[in-house]
Amino acid sequence: MHIGLDIGTSGVKALLISEDEKIVCSHDAALCVSRPQPGWSEQNPDDWIAACKQAIGRIRETHPDEFAGVASIGLSGQMHGATLLDRNDRPLRPCILWNDGRSERECAELEAKVDVRRLTGNIAMAGFTAPKVAWVRKHEPDVFAKIHKVLLPKDYVRFWLTGEYIADPSDAAGTLWLDVEKRQWSEELLAATELGLEHMPGLVEGTKVSGYLRSELAREWGIDSIPVAGGGGDNAATACGMGVLSPGTGFLSLGTSGVLFAATERFAPNTRDAVHAFCHAVPDRWHQMGVILSAVDSLNWFGRITGRDAPDLVSELPERIARPAKALFLPYLSGERTPYNDPSARGAFIDLAISCSTAELTQSVLEGVAFALADCNDALIHAGSHLEAVYAVGGGARSRQWLDIIAAATGLRLLIPEAGDYGAAFGAARLGRACLKETFDLNDFKAPAIQAEVVPCIELAEQYSANRARFSALFTAVKAVRPGERL
Ligand code: XUL
Repeated sequence: MHIGLDIGTSGVKALLISEDEKIVCSHDAALCVSRPQPGWSEQNPDDWIAACKQAIGRIRETHPDEFAGVASIGLSGQMHGATLLDRNDRPLRPCILWNDGRSERECAELEAKVDVRRLTGNIAMAGFTAPKVAWVRKHEPDVFAKIHKVLLPKDYVRFWLTGEYIADPSDAAGTLWLDVEKRQWSEELLAATELGLEHMPGLVEGTKVSGYLRSELAREWGIDSIPVAGGGGDNAATACGMGVLSPGTGFLSLGTSGVLFAATERFAPNTRDAVHAFCHAVPDRWHQMGVILSAVDSLNWFGRITGRDAPDLVSELPERIARPAKALFLPYLSGERTPYNDPSARGAFIDLAISCSTAELTQSVLEGVAFALADCNDALIHAGSHLEAVYAVGGGARSRQWLDIIAAATGLRLLIPEAGDYGAAFGAARLGRACLKETFDLNDFKAPAIQAEVVPCIELAEQYSANRARFSALFTAVKAVRPGERL
């Protein structure tokens, strides 16, 4: 038995799998995000611990015999969060999350100070950890002065589990303090934010043991001091769950954010199009990602303002989408990463007519997200990854209409895995199992069987190509009339 623990943004998931990868049970515990100012996004690190206790507690209650046989724990989590600890290992302030846009200015300052792009293969983006800590230094100097360690969300949970300060390279790559090619902290990058190696956790590969369950917890849970694997950032962990480790393989995740992920055998950056070039959660592998900040979030937003929930909105669409919606939607409600790296970008609807129905606007929202994902695919192509087919995962992938739209807009074949849970928690559980072995074996990370494929509809794709050109032009046009922008 192995436990995968995923510290997501909207909740913690604890998943128990058997040696032959059967899902024994899975429990979620919800988390809240606080938005104290526009563009800010924070969580209390102790809420993660409370949620982990709750989710693991439920496994213990529902499957006591299986829980007693747990041999390892694997961790995964939302990336980039800045969890700042003092000397007593207490959080100094709420964690600033991956979708927090406050550090735009600090990104520019950091890039002016040090060649971030050369050293990390990534642009300094507002959600990443280093610029957010630079923001804290400027705006909360008392907090900055007390920083003893900076941990990522899942690594704070690891600290609670094991008492060790450890990160893995896939998650550490999203801090902007990692030399992503060498998979080591860069003192030059750390110095640019007035931090040093002493503020960083140690690094172990995702498939290796990072520490052992603290004896106190082991006693309380009635199990041995089992190993906890290095684990991975949630996207790399999801890839481990889907067997996406080799070039040519990838997945599309339609969650709060949208991610198009491609596995690579080497470090292959493309900063021009704001591609994320990170380490994978397994040794000697890397990955590229196009990330959009509002995927399902765009639909949820539209649901909020129309007083409907997302599935209800989608249920009004025709079963097969035959032609594009008339209105065009820009999904940049929280700024955008790939391909623009523009935290101040905002959403827009154009071509609204008096006849526009809610259903038509729902379709525009789904299409806007699909065009943004097509931009991500182009960015990955420029970075050398030519994906033909990708697994489709995440809550949004439950909508067949949305998958039809995305396939037609991106030209990608979308693979729907057989019913099951192949998400980040499952990948984390696989990493947990791997840490018990001497050497890493690619065959331990098999791809799931495919239940169905969504093939791009050629007629719809042709109609979309004109709309995509308008979509790209719209970004530039909206940017030009943004308050504070120069025309
Ligand atoms: C990736 C990113 C998001 C979070 C969401 O760069 O910011 O996918 O990891 O959990």
